[in-house]
Amino acid sequence: MKLVLAPMEGVVNARMRAILTAVGGIDRCVTEFVRVTTQLLPPRVFYRYCPELHHGSLTPSGTPVYVQLLGSEPNALAENASRAAELGAAGIDLNFGCPAKTVNKHRGGSILLDEPELIHRIVASVRQAVPAATPVTVKIRLGYEDSDRLLEVAHAIEHGGANELVIHARTKAQGYKPPAHWQRIAEVTSQIKLPVIANGEIWTRTDYQRCRELSHCQNVMLGRGLLANPSLAQQIKAGTQGMPWQNALELLGGFQDALIGSCSPRHACGPVKQWLGYLKLHYPEAALLLAHVKRITDPDIMLDAIQTEAQKFLLAESA
Ligand SMILES: Cc1cc2nc3c(=O)[nH]c(=O)nc-3n(C[C@H](O)[C@H](O)[C@H](O)COP(=O)(O)O)c2cc1C
Repeated sequence: MKLVLAPMEGVVNARMRAILTAVGGIDRCVTEFVRVTTQLLPPRVFYRYCPELHHGSLTPSGTPVYVQLLGSEPNALAENASRAAELGAAGIDLNFGCPAKTVNKHRGGSILLDEPELIHRIVASVRQAVPAATPVTVKIRLGYEDSDRLLEVAHAIEHGGANELVIHARTKAQGYKPPAHWQRIAEVTSQIKLPVIANGEIWTRTDYQRCRELSHCQNVMLGRGLLANPSLAQQIKAGTQGMPWQNALELLGGFQDALIGSCSPRHACGPVKQWLGYLKLHYPEAALLLAHVKRITDPDIMLDAIQTEAQKFLLAESA
C-alpha cells in the first residue's frame, strides 16, 4: 500500500512536508504547483518550491518529493520537467486538476480535461524529456463540467507514457463538495493498466477502507485529512491509535518555531492559524486554541501560547 501526501498550494510546503513525513506512514510528497507558461524557469524557482532538491529530493525523514508542473504548452512543460529532473527531482507530476478560475482562464489545470488530445501530447512530451528512471505522474479530476470524457483522458495519459495516475474523485464543477465519487475511479482502473491512486475525502481509516473497496485502488493520496489528523497515514497503515492532542501540539510548536527561523515576522503566524483551521476538524481542542490565538500577530507570542497549552498537559500528567 502506498500513501501519498497531496499537493496543496499555500499549505503543504517544505516545512509542512518535513513535519508530516516525520510522523510517518507517507511514501511520497508532491510540491505545490509550479506554473509553467512559455519560459524555461530558472533553477531558483524549482529550489523555492522544492528546497528538498538540495537534499536528493527527500524530506529530512527521507520521503521522496515530486515536483508538480501546471501548464498547457507541451514543449515548455517538457523543458521545465527536464530541468527539474536535472536538478534531481524524484519525479515529475502534472496537474490537470486545479479548479482555480484564474488558472483555468489561462488554460491550466482542470480545464484541460476537455482536451484529451492535448493532455496526451503534454504527457508524451514530458515523458520523452525526462530520464526513463524519473517517474512521470499525472493528477486529474473526474472531468471539468462533467465526467463524460474521463476514460478518454485516462487512455490519453496511459498512451502518453505516464507511470501513475492520481484521480481526485470529483469534477471541477463539484469543487470540494462531499461526497467524493470513489466508485467512478473503478471505471478507470478496470479499463487501463496504468496504476491509479485514489484521492478525495479520506478523513479516517474507515474512509480509506471504503474508498479502497469502491475505487479498487490500494494506493491513495491524502490531503486535508492528513492536515487535520497528522497520524492518519500511520493509522491507515498500522491500525495505530490516533495521535493525542498533546503530541499534535508539539508538532504545532515545532512548526511555529521553524516559521520564526525562516519567515519575516509578518508572515510567521498565518500558517499556524491556517493549520489550526484543519486540526480543529479532528481535535476539538484545536478550535479552542484557534479562538484564543486568532488575533496574535507576534510569532514569539504565538509560540508562547502553543507552549503554554502544551505545558498544561505536562502539569496534568505530573499532578
Ligand atoms: C488549499 C488547497 C490547495 C491545493 N493545491 C493543489 C495543488 O497545488 N496541486 C494539486 O494538484 N492539487 C491541489 N489541491 C487539491 C488536493 O491535492 C486534493 O486533490 C484535494 O484536496 C482532495 O483531497 P482531500 O479531500 O484528501 O483533501 C489543493 C487543495 C486544497 C484544499
